[in-house]
Amino acid sequence: MQLKKTLEHLKKQQIIVEIYGLGYVGFPLAVRLSKSGITIHGIDVNNNRIQRLNKNELLDSEINLKDEFIESIINGKLELKNSPIKSDMPKIGIICVPTPIPNEKIQSDIYVKSAVESFLEFSKLGDVIILESSVEVGTTESIINLIESKGLKVGKDFGLCFCPERIDPANKEWKIENIPRVIYCSDDQSFQISREIYSNVNGANLIRVTSPKIAEIVKSFENAFRLVNITLVNELAILCDKLDVNVKEIIDAASTKPFGFLPHYPGAGAGGHCIPKDPRFLLESAKKLGIKFDTIEHALKINEQMPKYIANAIEEKLQSQGLEKNVLICGLSYKANVEDMRDSPSFKIIQEFKEKGFEIFGYDPFFDSNLTEKYLIENHISELNFTKLDNLDDETIKEISCMCIVQHHDENKLRVKEIYDKSLIPFIYDCQSKLLKNLQSNSHLEFLGN
Ligand SMILES: NC(=O)c1ccc[n+]([C@@H]2O[C@H](COP(=O)([O-])OP(=O)(O)OC[C@H]3O[C@@H](n4cnc5c(N)ncnc54)[C@H](O)[C@@H]3O)[C@@H](O)[C@H]2O)c1
Repeated sequence: MQLKKTLEHLKKQQIIVEIYGLGYVGFPLAVRLSKSGITIHGIDVNNNRIQRLNKNELLDSEINLKDEFIESIINGKLELKNSPIKSDMPKIGIICVPTPIPNEKIQSDIYVKSAVESFLEFSKLGDVIILESSVEVGTTESIINLIESKGLKVGKDFGLCFCPERIDPANKEWKIENIPRVIYCSDDQSFQISREIYSNVNGANLIRVTSPKIAEIVKSFENAFRLVNITLVNELAILCDKLDVNVKEIIDAASTKPFGFLPHYPGAGAGGHCIPKDPRFLLESAKKLGIKFDTIEHALKINEQMPKYIANAIEEKLQSQGLEKNVLICGLSYKANVEDMRDSPSFKIIQEFKEKGFEIFGYDPFFDSNLTEKYLIENHISELNFTKLDNLDDETIKEISCMCIVQHHDENKLRVKEIYDKSLIPFIYDCQSKLLKNLQSNSHLEFLGN
């Protein structure tokens, strides 16, 4: 009954939606939902983030939302806060907080639980929580217990849904608006409420599954699938290096098979906050049950070894050519055309080179010196162990022996090509096999995977 009333209030927009966590997932969601006319409270415990947003200081990936963001703030549809407020209106809480890799010191659900606790502080019968963070198997059930410990009955007078985010940053084809979403809902009313909410996100393209565990496993399995395939192709690239054949030619030829083959291309390893992390949630489940998940375990191990392999390959070549021990790492983020530096393979390659006594330079058009502290924390390093270059001008790069391209950002594509075509750096190592061979160039070009 209470949930039915919440649905009616939602249809009349007499409701507050609280979005917990204004990061890569929560911020665009807050802006998008605030356009629908619903009142959104964007909540983040990081005061620095709130202050930056209040000054309209957005990340590169958020710039396209700037006008809509400012408009929502001006018309009062989006309010930024560091904690929730009490209200008589029905409330929906959407949880978009980080879920770290669990270890002895930290549980993966630590931030999810604390955000849910904040929501529950002022919640009433008929309120609904939607989890969007990627969570370990069993987390949603533990949240049910947490809610019920406050005297509320999930599925009767309180709704709980798990709708994992699938966003693929910088993907121009598949965006928040057209990516279908898997969802678990505690009851039919909560599903109707979710449909109403997500009609403003992806046209309510929701695939309802029957249990929270299924939705949790789907999310981790999708990313395990990516990790395993990336690792498979990276190992193939290493074999191709030894066999002296080009891995890209093999993948392109295999891709002509019209069924049963999905091309993946080599690179310095999967980074970011999702692909190297979510598969670990399945490993944790297996561990708790006393069984193994060797495919994931092995893939994670190979993924971690890629930076060492690349640093060794470059060191060998520089030695054989009698070149100085210095390398420019080009592209520091974990993925092309994004500013996200979390768990990036570039930082690991730099670490490998530092241990070998190399002088290292780093360039990335997305690197924002104001966020250096954040990058260090995200990559588990205590200081910036390379010289950051502000550009790739002739004068700046003139002493460099090797340019190791980890990410091909569109923004520096032409300059990188020019550096190669004009032979401005003697050795270029392309981790993503994207530069086109130019027989006129005197630079030596090598790919990961020959
Ligand atoms: N980034 C992606 O591309 C992506 C894609 C799919 C799923 N996910 C998942 O979504 C979740 C969020 O990821 P993200 O990339 O947006 O993280 P993020 O680090 O960019 O943002 C999370 C925000 O939550 C805030 N926060 C932490 N605890 C809080 C609390 N108790 N209350 C309110 N705010 C709190 C942090 O200060 C931070 O600003 C993770 O589980 C992640 O795995 C991320």
